[in-house]
Amino acid sequence: MDTVSDITEMQRRCLALREAGKRIAFVPTMGFLHEGHLSLLQEGRKQGDVLVLSIFVNPTQFGEGEDLDTYPRDFERDESLAREAGVDLIFYPTAETVYPANYCSYLSVEGSLTETLEGACRPGHFRGVATVVAKLFNIVQPHVALFGRKDFQQLAMIRQMVRDFNMPVEIKGMPIIRETDGLAMSSRNVYLSDDERRQSLALNQSLTLAAELARGGESNAHKILEVSLKRLTTEPDLVVDYVKICNADTLEDVEIVDQRSVMLLAVKAGTTRLIDNNYLIAKV
Ligand code: PAF
Repeated sequence: MDTVSDITEMQRRCLALREAGKRIAFVPTMGFLHEGHLSLLQEGRKQGDVLVLSIFVNPTQFGEGEDLDTYPRDFERDESLAREAGVDLIFYPTAETVYPANYCSYLSVEGSLTETLEGACRPGHFRGVATVVAKLFNIVQPHVALFGRKDFQQLAMIRQMVRDFNMPVEIKGMPIIRETDGLAMSSRNVYLSDDERRQSLALNQSLTLAAELARGGESNAHKILEVSLKRLTTEPDLVVDYVKICNADTLEDVEIVDQRSVMLLAVKAGTTRLIDNNYLIAKV
């Protein structure tokens, strides 16, 4: 396994692999790898002849006052997990390499997919994600790229971007990986105190309650949201940014729940912002 930090070198290596007929599977991350990332790498190993991982805490997707400076980082640990997962090549650039002085090109996906939910709470976030993912695709030139469904809206936006810009890459969405008690795996979970960690179980529990209601025949989105919100607000340290039931394709709110309905939520546990989601009826 090699680690490359230089863009030209990375591009040269990936192009040579493509020219040698190798299929490149790519997992972009911000590092501090957990089981969720490892599941992407495991699938990536099956999807390609060569498995590429990028580790880059992308400054342009963090807003003012967000956790860019404190975002957990441990490259040595990531490197050894990547080796165990069968990664062939790690791309590990610095922020100055990706965004050199006088950098001024950004990409944004417009419309309901990015204006709502995370887009409404974190202005500029998706512009930063779209920009860095497009750059990473240009550098790594993957045949297939894998993303977790925990970042449901990010995945929807990336699919849209790839369609709109005719990017020659297949996007594969992968299931959310949870701790045994149901908390969705996230690099940010390390910020949680024991008490916040315990209270955060309400996220998955409120999604499960909603799915039980929907699968039991309740189709009124407002009634389902009421029950979920109640579960979240019984925890004293959780502050709800949003709980919504949306159409999985457009991310527009729905009134009547159907097979394409997904519940998405964002909650602050103390200073840690957590997101989670679940299809209400469809099992994926
Ligand atoms: O999901 C993430 O970790 C990041 O948003 C991504 C896709 C690596 C872009 O920085």
